[in-house]
Amino acid sequence: MNKTILVTGGTGYIGSHTVVALQEKGYKVIIADNLANSEKEVIYNIEKISHVLPQFEPIDLANEQACEALFNKYSINAVIHFAAYKYVNESVNNPLRYYKNNLISLLNVLNEMKKHNICNIVFSSSCTVYGTPDTLPVTETSPVKKSMSPYGNTKQVAEEILEDNCKADRHLKVISLRYFNPIGAHPSIKIGETAKGIPQNLLPYLTQTVIGKREFLSVFGNDYNTPDGTCIRDYIHVMDLAYAHVCAIERMLHMGSDINYEVFNVGTGKGYSVLEIIQTFEKVTGMKVNFQFKGRREGDIAQIWADTSLANKVLKWEALYALEDMLLSAWKWEKELAKS
Ligand code: UD1
Repeated sequence: MNKTILVTGGTGYIGSHTVVALQEKGYKVIIADNLANSEKEVIYNIEKISHVLPQFEPIDLANEQACEALFNKYSINAVIHFAAYKYVNESVNNPLRYYKNNLISLLNVLNEMKKHNICNIVFSSSCTVYGTPDTLPVTETSPVKKSMSPYGNTKQVAEEILEDNCKADRHLKVISLRYFNPIGAHPSIKIGETAKGIPQNLLPYLTQTVIGKREFLSVFGNDYNTPDGTCIRDYIHVMDLAYAHVCAIERMLHMGSDINYEVFNVGTGKGYSVLEIIQTFEKVTGMKVNFQFKGRREGDIAQIWADTSLANKVLKWEALYALEDMLLSAWKWEKELAKS
């Protein structure tokens, strides 16, 4: 029988691509999402790609009763927990909203998993846990630094909550995936990143500028200690990131592991500067990016990229898409959005 995966936050950017990747592998998917930063239409777009409409529950997992009802309704083999707020700036201005939403939803999910004997969970963590790294690339044993934002701290605290629960319960299996910078869209261009309001992240702001929704892209800082002075990040195609979740699920469900709490970096292992992103975007799309240098953004680090050898070896996963594919698909998606 097909295994059933609960994908919380499954109508969101990374969640929706992961749902498609799971369906490709024959998993049955239930999405729980309160649509705080996504639209219900995403489930129909997923269906257009996979020809399977995922089960959808429009619930807020921070609501204990709603979470309980969800777990009572379905028989679930594993959970992928994406549902969380993700804006660094917003979290600085409203930390309570972030701690409440991101941590209470995780606690409610874990509590229900325990009640229903569900032992497998993949957690959406972030490279933000490394803060300003001492050495590059970062490995999973690089030190976790004091977080620069409440958002980042919710990821650190969540990892600690999961690790503590793994120590207390040997049956529980947790894989925390530390994402680097996901960009791009599904090759079908039927799903992609849809930021509500003004985008905070580089790619959606860049593509909105090129399509004419924004006047110019601000490049935050050109005086960093990097070759061209702009910040360096490890950008990964969202489908590569989605497949990492499938590999994590397969490891938990089919292979087993003696260690019940594992952490993996999910990036490409290559770093690109903001200027390199702009130049490559212009090259692959033939479009001009109107940008201006501005001051540094608070909380930004100069550079980070991943050592992905652990995920390559243990999860038997590797990133396949090149930067050009990521940027071209992001642009095609922006043009698709402009049609609606
Ligand atoms: C941030 C968080 C990360 C989180 C991600 C998703 C940190 C250190 N990183 O990643 O944990 O998962 O957001 O919300 O907390 N940039 C511009 N102009 C813009 C936007 C961005 O120049 O308009 C630059 C930034 O300075 C940065 C790079 O582009 O150097 C990438 O920024 P962004 O896409 O926001 O991702 P991060 O800050 O790396």
